[in-house]
Amino acid sequence: MAYNDNFIRACRKQPVDRLPVWYMRQAGRYDPDYRKIKETHSLLDICKQPELAAEVTLMPVRKLGVDAAILYSDIMNPVASIGIDFDIVKNVGPVIDNPLRSAEDVRKLRPIDVDGDLSHIIETIRILDRELEVPLITFAGAPFTIASYLIEGRPSKSYIRTKEMMYGAPDVWFMLMDKLGDMVITYLRAHIAAGAKAVQLFDSWVGSLSPADFRTYVLPTIERIFQGLSDLPQPKIYFPGVSSGELLPDLHGVKADVIGLDWRVPIRQGRQRLNDRFAVQGNLDPYILTAPMDLIERQAQALIDEGLESPGYIFNLGHGLFPEASLDKLKALTDFIHRYSESAIAK
Ligand code: CP3
Repeated sequence: MAYNDNFIRACRKQPVDRLPVWYMRQAGRYDPDYRKIKETHSLLDICKQPELAAEVTLMPVRKLGVDAAILYSDIMNPVASIGIDFDIVKNVGPVIDNPLRSAEDVRKLRPIDVDGDLSHIIETIRILDRELEVPLITFAGAPFTIASYLIEGRPSKSYIRTKEMMYGAPDVWFMLMDKLGDMVITYLRAHIAAGAKAVQLFDSWVGSLSPADFRTYVLPTIERIFQGLSDLPQPKIYFPGVSSGELLPDLHGVKADVIGLDWRVPIRQGRQRLNDRFAVQGNLDPYILTAPMDLIERQAQALIDEGLESPGYIFNLGHGLFPEASLDKLKALTDFIHRYSESAIAK
């Protein structure tokens, strides 16, 4: 089979013969074969075994026929290398024994050592680069989202301690943003050197900030990260996560190629707020997958019609897949997106 570069073409706003589709969290618990592996291996065990991590990455590509692979890893993996001990607890998420609270805690963080501490991840990328016939996306967590775990110590709904540091100790906050920004740049550059064909920065929780606070406390670091990758030709995606619609008008200066949209923003409006500067990716409500197939298809069709109004559209969900999603519906959805978009483009 020939290499399928529809995803890369769409990132660059080039013409495609059918729309590319992939799903955030496409390797996961909705797949019985994945659940079987998880009976005997934790997420971190899998990540430390490159052959197994590559296999788990490939599973959804084979089963669903998606147009991109996403590295099986977690946004927390690189923080092990800067000096944070964490675990990923089932049905909870990342948990940290000694959360960051003081200037001293932040000062102690080390620079990332990708070739030493994280060589298993680089090896996984190399294996996938040899095996894949679709582009490999790798990713990092963005500084606000990572900071929220490092400061809270566990998933949070309010981000109260994170905001307490941001507002109350801005010098400590910006030192942390600088260190996490450096971590992300070094980490993603190493991914691309190992064979990643695109990178996505997940800022899943930054939508908890007002636009003014986003501009003051976070955006300068986001701009610096994409600037620090801008000499590399591989497409770069920024996903500002849940409830991020109001932040879109502030992203004009970000040197990314693609912006991921949350499902609360209609595609057309998202593009307007972004001044048509970027390709867009998204944004089906993941929970629509609980609905009957005809309703899922109707919603997907409406998205595709809007997405095709201008070049540069990648079909995805507005956030990650959830464990109760059905493999059969996802496969049917993927086939529908390909079939419907191919005939719409041919018209
Ligand atoms: O998309 C993919 O298929 C690639 C793998 C991937 C994982 N995490 C594996 C994982 C990706 C892209 C991530 C990113 C990630 N991790 C984000 C950003 C994306 C998002 O959802 O907004 C965040 C916030 C995390 C932190 C994290 N890791 C959470 C909140 C959880 C959920 C805890 C739970 O059990 O529900 C995790 C664990 C995790 N990371 C799982 C997977 C497949 C689920 C648990 C498991 O299968 O062990």
